[in-house]
Amino acid sequence: MNSRISLLCALVLASSLLHCARSDGNDAQLLKGINSYRSSLKVPALSENKNAACLAEQLARQFKGQECTNTTGANTVIGTEQQFPDYPRYLDRCHLNASVTEDGQVMPACVPGLAPAVVLANYTKSQYNRFLNDSQFSGAGIASEGDWVVVVLSTSTGSGDYSPAPPGSNWAVSAARPFGFGQLVLLLVGFVVLLVK
Ligand SMILES: *[C@@H]1O[C@H](CO)[C@@H](O)[C@H](O)[C@H]1NC(C)=O
Ligand SMILES: *[C@@H]1O[C@H](CO)[C@@H](O)[C@H](O)[C@H]1NC(C)=O
Ligand SMILES: *[C@@H]1O[C@H](CO)[C@@H](O)[C@H](O)[C@H]1NC(C)=O
Ligand SMILES: *[C@@H]1O[C@H](CO)[C@@H](O)[C@H](O)[C@H]1NC(C)=O
Repeated sequence: MNSRISLLCALVLASSLLHCARSDGNDAQLLKGINSYRSSLKVPALSENKNAACLAEQLARQFKGQECTNTTGANTVIGTEQQFPDYPRYLDRCHLNASVTEDGQVMPACVPGLAPAVVLANYTKSQYNRFLNDSQFSGAGIASEGDWVVVVLSTSTGSGDYSPAPPGSNWAVSAARPFGFGQLVLLLVGFVVLLVK
């Protein structure tokens, strides 16, 4: 009885860790691809921006479940992007003031199964390439959910660096990410407990 529960726990833990590694791996691969594209254009590489990634995650979760069509993602006509009424709440969750996101750029793409080569082409060979080749951008946060991936570009200036509001300002308690650091620690502790038993 006990050992069966332990086994079940181990399976659940393992699959959630795998899920975590898989989507993070795809996102890292996309950043690598974008950076080799930039290097071919002699534009400095983008570094990882965790706060931009937090916003990307909020948006990816909203897109998740929507079907890819020829008017979604990279095919959207600029200016007709989907607007999210809850956008201010997503900023809150990521401890961001709208003023630090003004010069940033949000770029959603929809690719069935998120095939890495197609995803990269959706950025480098679409209307998005004019942002990717821009040296004004210095950072990127990437998140994916379902068939959707969201890349958020950040700048090095105060109006686009996605730097979090200083502590003490009245932001919502904490960003609830599906597999944040806290959960990861819990999972690891769970594994250790299982091993010790
Ligand atoms: C999108 O697809 C629909 C039907 O598949 C087609 O009628 C329409 O012309 C397409 N739009 C564009 C912009 O390609
Ligand atoms: C956001 O930043 C602007 C400019 O720094 C400031 O005026 C405003 O009060 C800030 N908003 C919040 C909610 O902290
Ligand atoms: C983007 O991905 C879609 C699949 O959702 C694909 O049909 C389309 O050709 C891709 N666009 C580019 C520019 O690669
Ligand atoms: C970036 O791409 C746009 C559109 O493709 C082009 O007009 C512009 O000259 C490019 N800029 C650089 C720095 O390559």
